[in-house]
Amino acid sequence: MEPPAPRSSGRRTSLQTLAVSQRVRALVVTSSLPGEGKTTTAINLAITMAEAGSRVLLVDADLRRPAVSRYLGLEGSVGLTTVLIGEAEVEDVTQVWGSERLHVLSAGHIPSDPSEPARLGGDGRAWSPPSASATTS
Ligand SMILES: Nc1ncnc2c1ncn2[C@@H]1O[C@H](COP(=O)(O)OP(=O)(O)OP(=O)(O)O)[C@@H](O)[C@H]1O
Ligand SMILES: [Mg+2]
Repeated sequence: MEPPAPRSSGRRTSLQTLAVSQRVRALVVTSSLPGEGKTTTAINLAITMAEAGSRVLLVDADLRRPAVSRYLGLEGSVGLTTVLIGEAEVEDVTQVWGSERLHVLSAGHIPSDPSEPARLGGDGRAWSPPSASATTS
């Protein structure tokens, strides 16, 4: 599939202003409902920011409906989940798209077995909330 046409220059200008004034280094794109344009918005922002000269790492953290690699024609079998389970370092599975300034970390393999995400703890144990007696310093 062809990458979506950039249509985020207005948002890019606003975000560049914000980034300069607030030293913003990371942005999260999310929404409350499916199909509202999260992936398209994130891709278009990443492309336009990279074209404007920024070094950008686009991370597909949607582990339910990942689409960045498909939209950009990149490898989708390795990425964020591969790093989370300790099978690769970020730099090993990050891909370059277009210019050297835009790097992409795909979501990676999403297990079809719903019990398998427990592996994302990295040691085979399911995540559990901190005990009531835990303290913070
Ligand atoms: N600004 C826009 N104007 C018109 N159509 C758009 C716009 N942004 C996205 N779309 C279209 O809407 C559909 C859904 O977009 P996208 O996949 O980006 O949404 P999403 O929120 O990431 O979806 P999901 O919840 O499945 O992850 C796609 O067909 C996309 O081409
Ligand atoms: Mg999406």
